[in-house]
Amino acid sequence: MTEQISESQKRKNGLNQKANDELAEHMKRGWADTERRDLEPLAQAEHTARRRAGLSARFPGELLVIPAGNPKVRANDTDFPFRPSSDHVYLTGNQSQDAVLVLEPEADGSHRAVAYLRPRSDRENGEFWLDYHGELWDGRRNSLTENERLLGLPCRDIRTLTERLGEATGPIRLLRGYDAGVEAALRDKVTAERDEEFRVVLSEMRLVKDEFEIAELRFACEATARGFEDVVRVLGTDEPTPERAIEGTFFMRARIEGNDIGYASVCAAGPHATTLHWVRNDGEARPGDLLLLDAGVETRTLYTADVTRTLPVDGRFTPVQRTVYDAVYAAQEAGMAAVKPGAGYRDFHHAAQRVLAEHLVAWGLLGDRSVDEVYELGLHRRWTLAGTGHMIGLDVHDCARARNELYVDGTLEPGMVLTVEPGMYFQADDLTVPEELRGIGVRIEDDILVTESGNENLSAGLPRTADDVEAWMTRLRG
Ligand code: GLY
Ligand code: MN
Ligand code: MN
Repeated sequence: MTEQISESQKRKNGLNQKANDELAEHMKRGWADTERRDLEPLAQAEHTARRRAGLSARFPGELLVIPAGNPKVRANDTDFPFRPSSDHVYLTGNQSQDAVLVLEPEADGSHRAVAYLRPRSDRENGEFWLDYHGELWDGRRNSLTENERLLGLPCRDIRTLTERLGEATGPIRLLRGYDAGVEAALRDKVTAERDEEFRVVLSEMRLVKDEFEIAELRFACEATARGFEDVVRVLGTDEPTPERAIEGTFFMRARIEGNDIGYASVCAAGPHATTLHWVRNDGEARPGDLLLLDAGVETRTLYTADVTRTLPVDGRFTPVQRTVYDAVYAAQEAGMAAVKPGAGYRDFHHAAQRVLAEHLVAWGLLGDRSVDEVYELGLHRRWTLAGTGHMIGLDVHDCARARNELYVDGTLEPGMVLTVEPGMYFQADDLTVPEELRGIGVRIEDDILVTESGNENLSAGLPRTADDVEAWMTRLRG
């Protein structure tokens, strides 16, 4: 729900100037009618309707409340760019801040969906120019009628929601964590336990993607591949390239083709590649080093790719870099081969990790222990560190609240999209490995769609073998 702007904020932004009557009248008049009457529904509108029907069927007779969330303060009176809650987007397609989707229970057990939104700034009361978030400050918002056309839903003024929630009787479920105002309004009407069940169902609904979502993820991967190509073109072969420049280069592609990056880009050169989530990006990629780039474009509809390539900065792997790279590649091949309908979710993880363990044993890093023994005890994990993948979608780590029996202990189904991302990470200060391995980190990560007959690699636009990576870099550099 909308927050009132404080007097001190108004003062600092020159908003407390008294609007004398003449100026107020002068501002009110003479604006063209800009209402857009020819808007078509969003491309995903028929999918959001079907998803809402699916949710409705799970909670007959209950009032369901799914906020988009409010902007978060970055500093004083500046906010972070707003990113709506993924569940709200999944069920509406709406991306505007402060919105709330309400599913009103009907007598027959179905629901009537209503989106509560901030309407267009009012001309009569001066909000459009006097309010810090008015139209002349933040830009034009859609009118409620425009939003009804776009979303295919009845839309109401968000300022009426508190009253509606106040009169609500009967069971209510709320998606918590996004809108403190809505939570306060419902404090005495909801329970944490029931709301957690609601969150779990919302998460599980997103495990299998529909055709709209798959098309968006496909585009996210294609745009991400173009971002990786941009990075190769700016990587110096003689001079170091700041990790910040790599980050900025990928970000430019994300903003041009999509909405944003889907998560903070990991631009990890040299030993930084041994830190799984190196997002400080304050080092330099030097010729001779590897660059581990883990980055994903988020589409304008907020679906994100999650792709990693480990590249030799100067275009050629050294023999030891190639040895590690080939081991990770072999593990990824084994993992990808295990992604198919009916397979256990954990199968691809074990297939990939087993190959990594075999290489580590063959290199003598675990004494005379057998692969079985190493795997049983998990000793390889000193150098493999993380799991081998996760679902992707609107969140980079999608469906995170789904119950184990449907996700990590479940079975793969057509329409699921997940990463396969094995890696080996030899810390610079690891005295248990030969010196030549220290400071080398390699991860290869692709986004894999489970199909009826097996799988499809959505990020196959980027090379994976060491030879193909070298040839691709040479070609891009002319
Ligand atoms: N980029 C985060 C991950 O790979 O899970
Ligand atoms: Mn990932
Ligand atoms: Mn990643």
